[in-house]
Amino acid sequence: MPKLKLPTPPGLKAPPKRPSENGHGDERGKLQEAGVSAVDWIDERTALSGGARWLMFRKIPRGTNWFYTLGSATLFAFLAQAVTGVFLAMYYEPTTAGAYESIRYVTNEVFLGELVRGMHKWGSTVMVILIFLHMGRTFFWGAYKYPRELNWVLGVALLILTMLMSFSGYLLPFDQRSYWATIVGVAIQGTGPLIGPYLADFLRAGPEFGATTLARFYAIHMLLLPGVIAALIGAHLYLVARQGTTAPPWLKANEDPELRRDEI
Ligand code: HEM
Repeated sequence: MPKLKLPTPPGLKAPPKRPSENGHGDERGKLQEAGVSAVDWIDERTALSGGARWLMFRKIPRGTNWFYTLGSATLFAFLAQAVTGVFLAMYYEPTTAGAYESIRYVTNEVFLGELVRGMHKWGSTVMVILIFLHMGRTFFWGAYKYPRELNWVLGVALLILTMLMSFSGYLLPFDQRSYWATIVGVAIQGTGPLIGPYLADFLRAGPEFGATTLARFYAIHMLLLPGVIAALIGAHLYLVARQGTTAPPWLKANEDPELRRDEI
């Protein structure tokens, strides 16, 4: 039923628009009305929706196309690696005696184990391909120029860390191929200038390849690198949101006659 609105008698002050219903003043009255769903309840206490709106609802330049999705595709590949990696870690045993057997067990015995392991193994290759394509896109669109140089540098760090993820993960099955390939990789590392030999010693974690090497690679692969990559992706996306997306270079040239070759 619609509420009846009575006129205020002459000489009396009109009541406040939102009277407090609990006797604690206006603010509390408002707070009681505000939370109508679980999302509202959380948002009222954290104001997270403001941040989400700031990050996601943005103006983008004309002429953006599918190439602009390569960064998000790389992000998705990273998240898929993180999720499948968590499930693999539930079964993996980082010891020289148990590593190969635990991976064999995941592949042959565990429900959907082969699928999850396959996703993780092929996903690493997919992520490397996507990151290179994304880097190519930003390079050919000139997105590394002012004011995005720092984001380019962050990207280079992400590229190196992604390659290190692949390298450190390769040893973990501890089969003949991964064992010998990693010995070769660490030996190549040792020939690097200045810090090369020290880095090789650090990775080998002892005079011989063995139990300590595997434990070190495992810790680097599943704790150190994912943590640093996640933090750098956060900084990378913050800068993307803050600086906006670069317009395609051919559009910029069309809009600004100074940039057109025939006019210079
Ligand atoms: C884990 C790796 C990476 C992730 C998850 C990632 C993610 C993203 C996302 C989502 C965007 C915005 C959408 C887009 O422009 O595609 C972006 C933009 C950008 N990324 Fe990456 N990126 C990664 C690695 C790299 C690398 C290796 C470079 C270059 C060395 C790079 C340089 C840039 C630059 C310069 C932009 C700004 C593009 C523009 O303003 O148009 N990123 N990145």
